[in-house]
Amino acid sequence: MPRTRTQVVIVGAGPAGLLLAQLLLREGIDAIILERRSADYVLGRIRAGVLEQGTVDVLEQAGLAARLHREGLIHEGVEIGFRGQRFRIPLRQLTGKSVTVYGQTEITRDLMEARAAAGASSVYEAKDVTLHDWEGSAPRVTYRQGGVLHEIECDFVAGCDGYHGVCRASVPTDRCRTYEREYPFGWLGVLADVPPPWNELIYANSEHGFALASLRSPTRVRCYIQCDVGERVENWSDARFWEEFQRRIGHGLTETLASAASIEKSIAPLRSFVIEPLRFGRLFLAGDAAHIVPPTGAKGLNLAVSDVYYLHQSLREYYRGRSERALDQYSVRCLRRIWKAERFSWWMTRQLHRFPGDAFARRMQDTELEYLFESRAAQASMAENYVGLPLDG
Ligand code: APR
Ligand code: PHB
Repeated sequence: MPRTRTQVVIVGAGPAGLLLAQLLLREGIDAIILERRSADYVLGRIRAGVLEQGTVDVLEQAGLAARLHREGLIHEGVEIGFRGQRFRIPLRQLTGKSVTVYGQTEITRDLMEARAAAGASSVYEAKDVTLHDWEGSAPRVTYRQGGVLHEIECDFVAGCDGYHGVCRASVPTDRCRTYEREYPFGWLGVLADVPPPWNELIYANSEHGFALASLRSPTRVRCYIQCDVGERVENWSDARFWEEFQRRIGHGLTETLASAASIEKSIAPLRSFVIEPLRFGRLFLAGDAAHIVPPTGAKGLNLAVSDVYYLHQSLREYYRGRSERALDQYSVRCLRRIWKAERFSWWMTRQLHRFPGDAFARRMQDTELEYLFESRAAQASMAENYVGLPLDG
């Protein structure tokens, strides 16, 4: 059996795993990435696209922000649609900060290219990744590639393998606690090459359910509508999607979309999830492996970036001074931020979607939105959370 050794085995080559590898490389810390899928498959996934300033800062620090600065779109506000009106939350005016619209797919591509340019490679299509002895001081990870079983000895394992990964699943249930909420709807998303007829994102709470008007570039829109949990993509022709989207976002904005052909269409469930703690001996969880937020707050990618930023700092401190102090603090440091993002994402989801529920809950939702539009303090609170809390806060 082929055997190698490295300092950190990273499981998963999504944004969390790739960014961690890049941050470690800059510190001279060796890592091997094991990814179950092919590189093309990873790049083909369409995910979120709103970056907090703190995320941009980390990418910049890692030398990964050149294209982001060229092509990313700075947004100084977002809009909330309600009762046929649109209300703007002026993010920059309220917080001094803005957000950057730049697709997660583009970040993944930038990270892959930076890794290749540094001469570092990742193992794609690594099957049966299995963790061994992660509770002791000499963990090992085995995987199969092309039918051959490989083994890597390492100091640490970083579980960056998403919600369905093997790392969190390796932790016995009596060693952790999980918190979960499923929402009674999903998001049907469409990507289309058409110039966005809106300048800023619009999150709409309509009689017919939630809709989000987003974008990826000056020539590409990304749009979502709330749908039933069991809904199937095949039931939604482009024409049907645009008609429903228009009904929710409002006419006058969406006419140019009616004939746009989708280039991607998919349905995602909405879920909140957190595991505690994030460290188990020599195994550390980061990104979607550790937590899921519903996409309404645009926090998923930003949280993955803050987790791996803290993890790389902790590993750096360990290798520089052989001190485990920062490794010990990793969980608590991440979880403080994670729970705040969970709260905000849950709040946004609750305010903007149609829930099956009683009349009282509906009136509370209406009143909460009215309060948001009237109160500068409520807007400031929303804006502060939307643009992102400081990384070291
Ligand atoms: N072995 C190896 N790789 C695995 C395994 C496994 N057993 N299981 C999953 N993976 C890989 C997946 O194929 C995927 O490429 O781990 C990667 C995890 O990537 P993401 O799901 O993108 O998660 P993460 O890197 O934490 O990024 C978080 O992505 O899902 C969005 O909203 C989320 O924006 C957030 C960001
Ligand atoms: C997206 O553009 O995909 C997007 C934007 C904002 C969100 C969620 C998704 O809150």
